[in-house]
Amino acid sequence: MSDSNNEFDTKWDAFETSCRDCHKCDLRAGANNVVIYRGSRTAPLMIVGEAPGRNEDLEGKPFVGQSGELLQNLLGSYGIKESDYHICNIVKCRPPENRRPTPAEIKACKPLFARQFIMAAPKVILLCGSTAYEGFFGVKPVMKDVRGFFVEKKGYYIMTTYHPAYALRNPANKIPIYEDMGKVKEKLVELGCLE
Ligand code: URA
Repeated sequence: MSDSNNEFDTKWDAFETSCRDCHKCDLRAGANNVVIYRGSRTAPLMIVGEAPGRNEDLEGKPFVGQSGELLQNLLGSYGIKESDYHICNIVKCRPPENRRPTPAEIKACKPLFARQFIMAAPKVILLCGSTAYEGFFGVKPVMKDVRGFFVEKKGYYIMTTYHPAYALRNPANKIPIYEDMGKVKEKLVELGCLE
């Protein structure tokens, strides 16, 4: 392994330790695991969800339950590989009873999210659901008004889509998420980010 890889991994390991040691809100005390990411440490695509659920808390990885299965099928259907994505959440510890994280919890987690964002160095960001949008942009969205198109900000291309759990409630809701993932794939190709 080269020195620069060593430096990179050391930085990531230190970051993960900071996440596990964080007690800025009460969620850490009730969590089995701090859920940081799955996929590649750096990747052209960052996918951001809300917060870990029960399965994620137990496994220590984001999107490993039913929503994750749906997300994984979508990625697979567009040939987006593990080396292409970094999947995470706006909040790293599971809220009790799977409730939405509060604004204070989102705020407490934000500095770690910001650090992760810089290190993952994505070009395209897919925000899944209103909590991810609110955490990222700092304002509550009306989902039907903000989904399905790219916003370019500081050279990043940001797309908002519905949370996969929305499609689990009604299979017809898969269609817009599928379409949005298609636009994400097109953007990654356009930017020359995929092999
Ligand atoms: N829902 C999310 O928003 N994130 C997960 O990791 C799992 C379910």
